Amino acid sequence: MGQGQNSILVTGGAGFIGSHTAVELFESGYHPVIVDNLSTSDRLLLEGLPKITGEKVDFFEGDCTDREFLRSVFSQRNITAVMHFAAFKSVGESVEFPIRYFRNNIDSLIALLEVMKEFGVRDFIFSSSCTVYGQPEKIPVNESAPFLKAESPYGATKQIGEQILEASVRSGYRVVSLRYFNPVGAHPTGHIGELPVGVPNNLVPYITQTAAGLRKSLTVFGNDYDTADGSCIRDFIHVVDVARAHVKALEYLWSIGPESNSFEAFNLGTGVGVSVLELIKSFETSNKLSLSYSIGSRRPGDVIKVYADPSRIMKAMGWKPDFSLEEAMVHAWNWQKKISGLT
Ligand code: UFG
Repeated sequence: MGQGQNSILVTGGAGFIGSHTAVELFESGYHPVIVDNLSTSDRLLLEGLPKITGEKVDFFEGDCTDREFLRSVFSQRNITAVMHFAAFKSVGESVEFPIRYFRNNIDSLIALLEVMKEFGVRDFIFSSSCTVYGQPEKIPVNESAPFLKAESPYGATKQIGEQILEASVRSGYRVVSLRYFNPVGAHPTGHIGELPVGVPNNLVPYITQTAAGLRKSLTVFGNDYDTADGSCIRDFIHVVDVARAHVKALEYLWSIGPESNSFEAFNLGTGVGVSVLELIKSFETSNKLSLSYSIGSRRPGDVIKVYADPSRIMKAMGWKPDFSLEEAMVHAWNWQKKISGLT
């Protein structure tokens, strides 16, 4: 990837959302500079990137809590903005190891802000989550919904992260926080996708691993909720649509003029609620296969029903989803087949 003026630091660029965003940045004419400590990600995605872009990856291996490491990256590259994906993201693990989550997710954010300041960089895109809303009272949820008590230390790190960023605009930063709903799918080329560590916690990787024969059967966590078919409802969004929103967010920040400091949060979802059982059906019909699954008990802490009101990001940035749920299911399965050697 050629080094242009517009070098964008992509922390966690070897991960699921970060790698897809690196592709979209590149395709929009920017130069992604990837940093990643590879603790929960894999070189496989870094190897997939050049197959899509045709360019060498600009990658620095290191940890975002390591200020000296960050300084060395900023001094070697003319970074103009930061997209911060690097974070621990497992809800269950965060309950077990809360201090590890607070230390990593909060300290990396603060280290980045400090080093950005030293190098005169102001523009920051933050990976937030709809978990900041908990179980919202009104659905679809919009950005003015209050932060309810975080259901996990992971969720708390996203709430605290936003609070830190909102307060920091007084010191000259400009921030867009994107509150992701449920990113799914994989790159349409099949060169990058999701690579969960160990047994997947999330629904779609569990489905694709079951279809690939790596797991015996999927358990649907509850079909006795107060929803149309009894299973939980989520807003599943194609990861490439998530990635494209980051490029839009960057251009949005640049469009508001250099004199203004601001913090703005946007929902990043499709606006369509899909139940777990509907998602399974979509996976089966889109890929013409039948999945082994059974109904199990509810998973403690699950939000029953949440989907986005995405009108704010649509209006402000002209973003809209380009991919359907069916396409996301086909891309997720293609990726799984590829990494499982089934193609
Ligand atoms: N589910 C199953 N079986 C599984 C896995 C999941 O039935 O094997 C169900 C869950 O009960 C839930 C739905 O599928 O109803 C989605 O579960 P995920 O774990 O895929 O996603 P969550 O919505 O629970 O969590 C996601 C992100 C978190 C984030 C949270 C915010 O993974 O990082 O959204 O709500 F905090």
